[in-house]
Amino acid sequence: MSDSLMQRLADLATASDSPDGLTRLFLSPAHGKAMAMIERWMRMAGLTTHRDAIGNLVGRTDTPGPVLMLGSHIDTVRDAGWYDGTFGVLAAIAALEQLRAEGETLPYGVEVIAFGDEEGVRFPQTLSGARAIAGTFDPAALAGVDEHGISMAEALSAFGGDPANIAQVARQRGNVLGYVELHIEQGPVLEAHDLPVGIVTAINGASRFSVTVTGEAGHAGTVPMKMRHDALAAASAMVLAIESIGRATPDLVATVGALRVHPGAPNSIAGRVTFSIDIRAPADALRAKAVAAVVTALREITDARGVTVEILQTHDAPATECALPLQAQLARAVAACGIAPLHLPSGAGHDAMAVAALCPVAMLFVRCKGGISHAPEEFLAAADAQTAVSVLVEFLRNFQTI
Ligand code: HGY
Ligand code: MN
Ligand code: MN
Repeated sequence: MSDSLMQRLADLATASDSPDGLTRLFLSPAHGKAMAMIERWMRMAGLTTHRDAIGNLVGRTDTPGPVLMLGSHIDTVRDAGWYDGTFGVLAAIAALEQLRAEGETLPYGVEVIAFGDEEGVRFPQTLSGARAIAGTFDPAALAGVDEHGISMAEALSAFGGDPANIAQVARQRGNVLGYVELHIEQGPVLEAHDLPVGIVTAINGASRFSVTVTGEAGHAGTVPMKMRHDALAAASAMVLAIESIGRATPDLVATVGALRVHPGAPNSIAGRVTFSIDIRAPADALRAKAVAAVVTALREITDARGVTVEILQTHDAPATECALPLQAQLARAVAACGIAPLHLPSGAGHDAMAVAALCPVAMLFVRCKGGISHAPEEFLAAADAQTAVSVLVEFLRNFQTI
């Protein structure tokens, strides 16, 4: 079975918006292609499928009543690996297929959700699909535009979604038993413990910003250095200041991952630079303190260099505790599969952060080689994939409503 799971993951990786490597953005042609492939696999597993107003794909077993939700996201970062997100969706389908093949019917309903937007790469908003399911989606996010100026609302309508009815996607609390997400660890801990799987204790909180530095564009050959207000030099000082705050604060991570220069010519002094900031920590107070320090640093550099700065917050997700009763049930399933249950935190963000506003959540991590992720070198061993599916099958068989 893990062969077909690994083969499906490989097949899914062909659904890319880029001819070089895997990039699958929210509401893109590749997103549509991936949905069609997963929908076919969901139906082969006996699930009834539907696509919701915000571009999530949902497969449901036919047992009536409240559901246990499984799943993860199928959008990717640029030049991504094959397993971030998609493994959680296909592993859930594989577990239900295994139960069905063994003639077992669970006494409760199960939904598998392929969230369309977790990474937040195309539009400023992130976790859009999970927020809609949780009822916390902010309609203002529909006005967010991608690099081509296309709004989420326009893209959603063109994709076959229904921007006017996203509120209908929200689940009622009484209809949901919980949410369990399988995901590659994207870190080195399981490998260091020589364990194939681990139970997540909590997910780091995250703040994301878009910063625009405006200086004075000019001719690189004629403007004397002392007269310059170089936006790229100012932004570079800001990037290093952000890094040094991250380095100086235990448990905090601070990253500038994207930067755009205007006009971006070798013989022009940059007039405008836009860059991203991603700040995360296990404790929200620590993250808030770091955000304040970063803003102060940016303003000091702005004043010193005679530029202006605009700081726009685009994402804020509180640290998320995984429900202890679900952690305990996952730990029992892990032990039943002959593996020592290890509990570990998540530095990466996940759909579970948004779903936690609706119901208790839990996550099972699976080892990935070198902890590498958000890169083509991301690797998941078939044996570990199989182990994770076996743990999920064991968990589903013994799931007790909490
Ligand atoms: O950024 C994250 O942690 C996740 O991969 N979206
Ligand atoms: Mn990711
Ligand atoms: Mn992910």
